[in-house]
Amino acid sequence: MYRLEGKVALITGGASGIGEAAARLFLEHGARVVIADVQDDLAHQLITSIDSNNISYCRCDVRDEKQVEAAVSHAVTKYGSLDILFSNAGVMGPMSTLLDMDLDAFDNTMSINARGVAATIKHSARVMVAKGIRGSIICTASVAASIGGAGPHAYTASKHAMIGLMRSACNELGVYGIRVNCISPFGVATPLSCAAYNLEPSQVEANCCETGNLKGVVLKAKHVAEVALFLASDESVYVSGQNLGVDGGFTVVSHSYSVK
Ligand SMILES: NC(=O)c1ccc[n+]([C@@H]2O[C@H](COP(=O)([O-])OP(=O)(O)OC[C@H]3O[C@@H](n4cnc5c(N)ncnc54)[C@H](O)[C@@H]3O)[C@@H](O)[C@H]2O)c1
Repeated sequence: MYRLEGKVALITGGASGIGEAAARLFLEHGARVVIADVQDDLAHQLITSIDSNNISYCRCDVRDEKQVEAAVSHAVTKYGSLDILFSNAGVMGPMSTLLDMDLDAFDNTMSINARGVAATIKHSARVMVAKGIRGSIICTASVAASIGGAGPHAYTASKHAMIGLMRSACNELGVYGIRVNCISPFGVATPLSCAAYNLEPSQVEANCCETGNLKGVVLKAKHVAEVALFLASDESVYVSGQNLGVDGGFTVVSHSYSVK
């Protein structure tokens, strides 16, 4: 069953990790996909490996509003619409202590993870409103959007900001029938997490299995993409303003009480 038949999706950070998994899955479900990223070579490799007219690449640094506007225009010009925004591009930033925090690096993390998401929502929503499209906007937050101590300080601040932005956008855009949600994954072995901890994917996965709440599942980018697919599709037609955890319950338990 094609769950995104006829839809056009813009995916930021679509060249790698969770965004790449979503691009492949959305395409399988009948969507036409524009990936927006700063990794040209990786993006071109992805497009070549898929070999379809239904996916294209637009270089876009989400820190630059003009480039975001151009990526949105690219989707509309190439495929005639914009039904889904998956605002997923993000960085972890330096793994420093608060006492050693570099505030220029803080600004950079905020400008990608928070300001960049704001720019993508603004320009996508403009098109959706102008064309009367009842679109779906999905942003990739994190477990670090709900609790402290799950990532670096700037990362945590940026992801908390994203939840506020998502709720605020949900309020304004509901009148147009546009839904806005976040997904918040636990650890997934991607270039972002492997580079941040300087670990191989298998080591990241082993650490996540050790610290995660839900045992017996290794969280993969595809699992997160499947949740994005749900929020992108009409199966979630009345779901808006939610931060959907893909964390096996990590953010709602403390393990401080045990009957064992
Ligand atoms: N991997 C995890 O454990 C994890 C957990 C929770 C949330 N997340 C979030 O998932 C999202 C995707 O990350 P991932 O784990 O797939 O990592 P990734 O590094 O594989 O993908 C991130 C992508 O974002 C792109 N990007 C970075 N800066 C950009 C910019 N300025 N403009 C445009 N694109 C830019 C990168 O080039 C890359 O392709 C991020 O928002 C991240 O914070 C990841």
